[in-house]
Amino acid sequence: MADALSKGARTLITDGGVQSNHARLTAAAAAKVGMKALLVLGAPELGDNNGNLILDNLFGADILFMEGASVKDMEEAMDHEAAKLSVAGKRPYIIPIGGSTPLGDLGYVDAVKELAEQADFDDPIIFAAVGSGGTLTGLLLGCRLYMPKAKVIGVAVAGGTNHIKRHMAECFKGAAELLGVEETLSVDDIDIIDDCYGTSYGVPCPGGDEAVKLAASTEGILLDPVYTGKAMYGLREAVKRDVFDKTRPVVFWHTGGSPCLYAFSKNYAKNFRN
Ligand SMILES: Cc1ncc(COP(=O)(O)O)c(C=O)c1O
Repeated sequence: MADALSKGARTLITDGGVQSNHARLTAAAAAKVGMKALLVLGAPELGDNNGNLILDNLFGADILFMEGASVKDMEEAMDHEAAKLSVAGKRPYIIPIGGSTPLGDLGYVDAVKELAEQADFDDPIIFAAVGSGGTLTGLLLGCRLYMPKAKVIGVAVAGGTNHIKRHMAECFKGAAELLGVEETLSVDDIDIIDDCYGTSYGVPCPGGDEAVKLAASTEGILLDPVYTGKAMYGLREAVKRDVFDKTRPVVFWHTGGSPCLYAFSKNYAKNFRN
């Protein structure tokens, strides 16, 4: 927001899936700073009007629905919309998908700083969901700077991990440059569990659904079927597979997303009339 404000932006544009938490939070942030948000969502217009979509609407965002659109299609649409808004004097500012840019990644660098200040341990194994990669990139850079003994393990919520790792290494370099630190990340240093997402992005999987129910019924914590449920499934698998030293503290980094629970209510609802 600071960057958008400093550039005099009046309209934030971003893209994502129909239940994108990032898009919803972009809409909320725009509302807070008095800007308009335009969300380009790859979904049919008459899809499930639920979960994040309701919140997008409450935050006053305009939505452009693009059924069956690829990320590239949505990027082109964002450029096209930005050109139209510029002509109308509405000063657009595009935030790429997931906010996974060097600047966006700095949020989770700061988050690790907070963890380091609050935790009474310094060598955790940190688990987090990986979508477009910005969260994990920020966590990795944050750990280099503030918690060098920590280990970060990502859990992919979709395929294409090799491509994401390359994007992460590039963004890591850019984020380090923004901070003026000489840190680099090789793709071989990125640890991602890539077989706990089921069939594809945005489609719940049995292991993820079980993890959602487990966290809710044993800890009172709400995960979601698209990101954090799959991440917790990955953590449970990592425990079973013995891939990390279990004497070390484990941090499960809860990245939000519970509005999606309502969009997928049929996966969790009980028919109370029975
Ligand atoms: C709830 C939630 N967790 C995790 C992620 C993954 O973040 P990233 O796209 O930075 O990998 C997202 C991405 O939108 C998300 O919505």
